[in-house]
This record gives sequence, C-alpha cells and structure tokens, in this order.
Amino acid sequence: MPRWMRWIGYAAGTVVLLAGAGAGYVYAASNSKADKRYDIPATPIAISHDSATIARGQHFATAIGKCVDCHGEDLGGKVMVDDPALGVVVAPNLTPGGLLAGDSDAEVVRTIRHGVKRDGRSAAIMPSEEYQHFSDEDVGAIVAYLRSVPAVTRTLPATQLRPVGRALVAANVLPLYTAELVDHSATPPARVLPDSTIEYGKYLASTGGCIGCHGPGLSGGPIPGMPPDTPPAANITPEATGRLSDAELERMLREGTRPDGSTINPMMPWRYTALMTDLEMRATIKYLRSVPGKPYGNR
Ligand code: HEC
Ligand code: HEC
Repeated sequence: MPRWMRWIGYAAGTVVLLAGAGAGYVYAASNSKADKRYDIPATPIAISHDSATIARGQHFATAIGKCVDCHGEDLGGKVMVDDPALGVVVAPNLTPGGLLAGDSDAEVVRTIRHGVKRDGRSAAIMPSEEYQHFSDEDVGAIVAYLRSVPAVTRTLPATQLRPVGRALVAANVLPLYTAELVDHSATPPARVLPDSTIEYGKYLASTGGCIGCHGPGLSGGPIPGMPPDTPPAANITPEATGRLSDAELERMLREGTRPDGSTINPMMPWRYTALMTDLEMRATIKYLRSVPGKPYGNR
C-alpha cells in the first residue's frame, strides 16, 4: 500500500480527541490549516521538452518519485481515501486533460517541491517533503513528462475532510498539509549528475521516499501515522543488511523477494524500485551500505 495510508491509522485515537475538543474549535483549527496561504514565488526554471527529457521525466515519475502510486498508472487521478468519518482524499488528474492545463510550468514545479498549490494553499498528503530535494533538471523533466502524456478525462470527487479527519488535523496528529513539512528557504541544486556514488544514492533515497518510510537513519520501525495493522518499515542499515550480498539486496528491490524466499509486503513499493536503472541500483545499495549500522526501530 502506498504512503498515503499513513494517515488513516490515526482514526484509532480519534474518539478520545473528539471527546476532548469542542467541535467548533476543531472546525476552525482544521480550516485555518487548510486555508493557510504560503507566499512562495513560482520561480521559472529552464525546462526542455525534448524526447530525452520526457523519457527521463517518465522514469522519475515512476521508478523514483512514484507519482503513479497515488495519481494512478495513467496519471489521470484517483480516489485514495473515501471514509465516512475521515473524509475523501483525491490525488488529482495530472494529465493535460486535468487541473494542471492552466498552470505554468513554474507553478507545477512549486506544487511538487513546496507542496503549495496555485492559490497558495498547501497540498494535502502529496509528499513534497521528499520532493523538495529534486534538482531543477529532474523536477523539470517530470513536468515535461506530465505535459506529454495522453489527456485523461475522469470525473473525480473533491477532497473533503469529515469530522474525524478534521479533529486529527486540528490536534496536529495528522500531518496532512505538506507545505508545513518543507524547508521553503532551501535552494535545490540545479543539477545532480547520475553516477554510482554514495551521494547520488542518498539523492535517490530522499527523493524516492526510502528515508521518508525507513527513517532518516534507515533503521525502520513503525512508519509515523501508519495504521497499527500495517507492516513497519524494515531495518535497512548494515546492522540488518550487512551480511547480504549486493545481488540479494537487488533482488529484494527488483522482485520483492527476500533471500529466504519470502515475499516483501507491497507497502514497500518494490514494484516501482524494480524499475530503477542498474546505475541507480548500484548507487542506492552503496548508500545503504554507507550509513552507520543501527538496531531496528531507531528511525
Ligand atoms: C502519497 C501520494 C502522492 C504521491 C506519491 C504524489 N502525489 Fe501529487 N498529490 C497527491 C494528493 C492527495 C494531491 C491533492 C492535494 C490537495 O488537493 O490538497 C496531490 C496534488 C498534486 C498536484 C497539484 C494539483 C493541483 O491541485 O493543482 C501536483 C502538480 C502533483 N500532485 C504532482 C505530483 C507529482 C509530479 C508526483 C511525483 C513526483 C506526485 N504528485 C506524487 C498525492 C500524491
Ligand atoms: C511507502 C513506504 C516505503 C518506501 C517509500 C520504501 N520502503 Fe522499503 N520497506 C517498507 C516496508 C513497510 C517494508 C517492510 C515490508 C515487510 O515487512 O514485508 C520495507 C522493506 C524493505 C526492504 C526489505 C528488507 C528486509 O530485510 O525484509 C528493503 C531492502 C527496502 N525496504 C529498501 C527500500 C529502499 C532502498 C527504498 C527506497 C528506494 C525503500 N525501501 C522505500 C516501506 C517503504
């Protein structure tokens, strides 16, 4: 299951929250977060729309950024959550048939890296805290790709929080609004050259969500906000993976199969890590081997 499942887990604590918080406060506090305006300029970056750039953008939207996990394989949008208590969360249509048609490239880049939509409000759930690290070149390639895909027309409901969802947001239990999690003052690199170095592996691990799910130290543990019945992220520091060969690690990332033959839960997005190039795989594995070993569960 994809990352967005995280927030559903908060439902358990909700009854308590609802009992303790006045409904009026909850409504006002969740609205103020949803309506908060971020004054982030949509700074234009050079984006080339040639076929090599589009191909790179496609790769980044699937194998690395995994946009398709939430926005649908055709990027035409999908309903991610529809819960009577929590609300409805929709990942919108990113094709030329959807919302972005009227946005400039710079506005789309701003949404991806800052989590700020065209009207200055925060996007919900969209993992910009990870995408803020994308280089100009890579985020530009993703935008070029979005402009090139076939237009999809799909009727989708509007995202809408219901009382329990509102209570969780108001209580700061549910980090729904991603613009809050982004360092808006950082200057992303213009370009990060693909190579087999540890540095490149770290770039892929941050833009690709490994750090988001397995923790900044990669030692795993329950993913913050995940429902209690979802598998915790595994320890992928050398303490746990040091005795595995590169081939065994690669097989886990390409086929979702552990050395003992068991299958890795699809909460781990191995369907998409499977699409990494050999170079990206080498860099990623090198990076995993470079971090300090840690016992499981220390994030
Ligand atoms: C974990 C799920 C998830 C992933 C992964 C994800 N998104 Fe999103 N995205 C969303 C949701 C949900 C919204 C709607 C946010 C809202 O309406 O507040 C959204 C909104 C957007 C928007 C803004 C649309 C608008 O309202 O104008 C853009 C652009 C976008 N995503 C692009 C991307 C790209 C590009 C990627 C991959 C690099 C990506 N997203 C990956 C969930 C996701
Ligand atoms: C959406 C959250 C998420 C993302 C993103 C993610 N993982 Fe995972 N990963 C998991 C979970 C959860 C498990 C445990 C699955 C299970 O218990 O079967 C896991 C398991 C693994 C395993 C298997 C470990 C073992 O010994 O069983 C490896 C290796 C791994 N992840 C590496 C990565 C790498 C490298 C990346 C980034 C390219 C990454 N993961 C991105 C959630 C994630």
